[in-house]
Amino acid sequence: MKQLRRLLLLVVGMGLAVGPVAPGLAQEDVIKERQKLMKSVGKATKTMGEMLQGKVPYDAAAAVAAMETIAGVPAKFVKLFPEDSAGDPDSKAADAIWEDMARFQKLAASLEKDAKAGASVAGNGPDALKGAFVKLTENCKACHKDFRLEDN
Ligand code: HEC
Repeated sequence: MKQLRRLLLLVVGMGLAVGPVAPGLAQEDVIKERQKLMKSVGKATKTMGEMLQGKVPYDAAAAVAAMETIAGVPAKFVKLFPEDSAGDPDSKAADAIWEDMARFQKLAASLEKDAKAGASVAGNGPDALKGAFVKLTENCKACHKDFRLEDN
């Protein structure tokens, strides 16, 4: 009996940990959380952009860290779009996300892939970083164009 209970607890616990859509997060928190993740992507991208523009000196470790930060976001990000968070005035997420979740997730996966590839070359110097950066930022444009509402 005791063993069975422990097993049940374990299974229930796992269900919570890997459950669908960020369990326990209220809609507001889900939106804040995904925006926070995107802010970190924006910050990391800015860091690399400034290096490439010569505004700050090239720093191999910082460039790799920036790519790694971005690579860690997409898998978490795509889980933060429950249906009931669509159309929230505090969010810039476009309805197209829920209309074409597959494409949205594909673009997120592409961001992750390019950031991972970027992390493996960003330490090789500004030219290597530049190539990876250009590829990386195509994902931002592609996704924001269709899936993020314009500033108004
Ligand atoms: C798979 C789609 C997707 C990709 C790829 C993507 N974004 Fe986003 N981004 C979004 C969505 C959707 C929002 C709006 C989220 C919300 O408001 O709920 C957003 C919001 C943002 C924000 C505003 C965050 C805030 O609320 O302050 C920044 C900054 C940002 N993205 C930067 C980037 C950069 C830089 C890249 C590329 C390196 C990128 N994004 C790639 C979908 C994406």
